[in-house]
Amino acid sequence: MSFVVAIDGPAAAGKGTISRAIAAHFGFQHLDTGLLYRAVGARVEAGEDAVAAARTLTPNDMARDDLRTPAIAAAASRVATRPEVRQALVEFQQSFARLPQGAVLDGRDICSVICPDAEVKLYVTASAEVRAERRYQELSQSGMSLTREGVLEDVLARDARDMGRADAPLVAAPGATILDTSQMGIDEAVAAAIAEVERAGPP
Ligand code: CDP
Repeated sequence: MSFVVAIDGPAAAGKGTISRAIAAHFGFQHLDTGLLYRAVGARVEAGEDAVAAARTLTPNDMARDDLRTPAIAAAASRVATRPEVRQALVEFQQSFARLPQGAVLDGRDICSVICPDAEVKLYVTASAEVRAERRYQELSQSGMSLTREGVLEDVLARDARDMGRADAPLVAAPGATILDTSQMGIDEAVAAAIAEVERAGPP
């Protein structure tokens, strides 16, 4: 028996933190699907064809330590507009969702395309300014040198590309509960998400 928590939302909304907390709390496996697109983006930056890279992605590609940089985030959102790239990644994501111990997947199209029948669907969001500030703190703590304005520009550009693409655009899918974390600390956001999962009667 599987139990799926599907989480979508715009850049730096806190999906990762919330997903990891849900997985730890309920003993589910977690897949950060953004890393798949980041890994394809990284291989394209190194000169490969996007579709070929998506079809031959390996665990090593996902383990690279530069996937969190703004340059790779932008490359990810460019490759993510290509239907053949998205198609190449569907099966891996859907088989992860069937893991018997339960699964949390976070991304942009999890509620709408990958797991439309998920037991729990969440759309996690926050204002662009709040998201950019969180991402600025996260990246500067990991030693990158950036400006707040630059991070906000990157977040807005990526949101526009992710929401505006023709294939699997980012949307709050029908049936998804919207969790706006603009005014919430991380503990409060995690507690609200866990309460939402509890309501669905996890195994
Ligand atoms: O962590 P953050 O929200 O900033 O980004 P991410 O989840 O790592 O995703 C990076 C990029 O991959 C996004 O901007 C999307 O363009 C793309 N993506 C997607 O198209 N579909 C997904 N399910 C996950 C990510």
